[in-house]
Amino acid sequence: MAVDPLWHALHAFALRETGMNLSSFVAGPALTGLAELAAAAGLSREAFLQHANHDERSRIALITRVANGTSWFFREWSGFETLLANAKRIRSQTGRNDIRVWCAGCSSGQEAYSIAVVLLDEGFVPHVVGSDIDAASIRRAEQAAYRTSDMLRMPAKYARYFDGATTPVRVSRRVRDCVQFVRHSLFPSGKPPTLVQHPDVIMCRHVLMYFDRTVARNIVAEMQRLVSQRSALILAAIEQTLQSGTTSELVPGPPPSPAAPAVGRTTTQPGPALSLDLTPTKPLTETLAASDAAAQLAAGLQHKQQERFAEACAALRIARFLTRDEHWLAPYQLGVCLERLGDLREAAEAYRHTLLIANNGGTSGLAGDGDVDAMRSSVIAACQERLRVLG
Ligand SMILES: C[S@@+](CC[C@H](N)C(=O)[O-])C[C@H]1O[C@@H](n2cnc3c(N)ncnc32)[C@H](O)[C@@H]1O
Repeated sequence: MAVDPLWHALHAFALRETGMNLSSFVAGPALTGLAELAAAAGLSREAFLQHANHDERSRIALITRVANGTSWFFREWSGFETLLANAKRIRSQTGRNDIRVWCAGCSSGQEAYSIAVVLLDEGFVPHVVGSDIDAASIRRAEQAAYRTSDMLRMPAKYARYFDGATTPVRVSRRVRDCVQFVRHSLFPSGKPPTLVQHPDVIMCRHVLMYFDRTVARNIVAEMQRLVSQRSALILAAIEQTLQSGTTSELVPGPPPSPAAPAVGRTTTQPGPALSLDLTPTKPLTETLAASDAAAQLAAGLQHKQQERFAEACAALRIARFLTRDEHWLAPYQLGVCLERLGDLREAAEAYRHTLLIANNGGTSGLAGDGDVDAMRSSVIAACQERLRVLG
């Protein structure tokens, strides 16, 4: 398929302005967003892109069109278990009940409010600052009104922190009073907004997975410097390969069933990569990233075949990170291996992630991609079945 010549310019804009290394999978919607903004301004797409380089309002509007703000309440529960474990440790070590949390890359507020609810429910006094580069998301966060579909993962006991049972559901005043929002970019430095003072916990989840990997590693390193001996940095499962050792004293949440903890784990190095035949039809950087991902996927599959599930997970996590929302085989295989390790919660997240990609037309991530439609259908069916069983 011919690549729109403006895609490379838009990709470069996002990388330069936000740190995000946009996947070619989002080229369609991102280019549509650019076209709509350009039409509204009476400019050509090229002229609007140029304009956005020096005009703040246009830049902000374009960032809104390329940022992926997908979020929902109580997403990836293991992160909240880790949050609570750390809050309880802080209380027992210091006698303090107030917990300061920076929710970095909070999108339209679901995660920041979830943090406040989980802490309030355990008797803590939360002070949460949610930050995001996307001005439109921050405005929605401040409105604190959501669709019921954003609440599907909410444990029933938290319903009392929300007003109304039909769309729009409003976050209750008590929760809203614990949360502030600010527009702020994590790029290039990962430094916090001035509102954030000595956070006890930084939660930055499903954000850095969209970034250039080197940039993401630097941001994680900066955040690790910020969290003191008494505090914790919590990333999403997909992003944990970015953490090099732990400078923070991070208490993992209770492990789901007999599994290893989801956060603060040291990942095992993947075994030797297999060489795959990748035809370099993309720019060099994309080809290198793709071949890394394909090699990690192949290594993961090999480990899995030999029943080395921990090693398989380490390689598959990297493959999943590198291919972000484009390829579904790595998250699917990760789900299978995590189940074999007994980590059912993260397995369910991996299956959900697989479905998201597969249903949106992503490819397998295998070099040849062969009879991908048949394989995609059976992977979708398998994920649905596993999610039904896992609940
Ligand atoms: C997929 S959402 C994740 C939301 C939430 N953390 C969660 O886990 O559900 C990713 C968010 O990262 C934000 N983002 C992207 N680049 C950013 C940057 N440079 N600084 C701050 N936020 C950024 C996007 O605007 C988007 O709202």
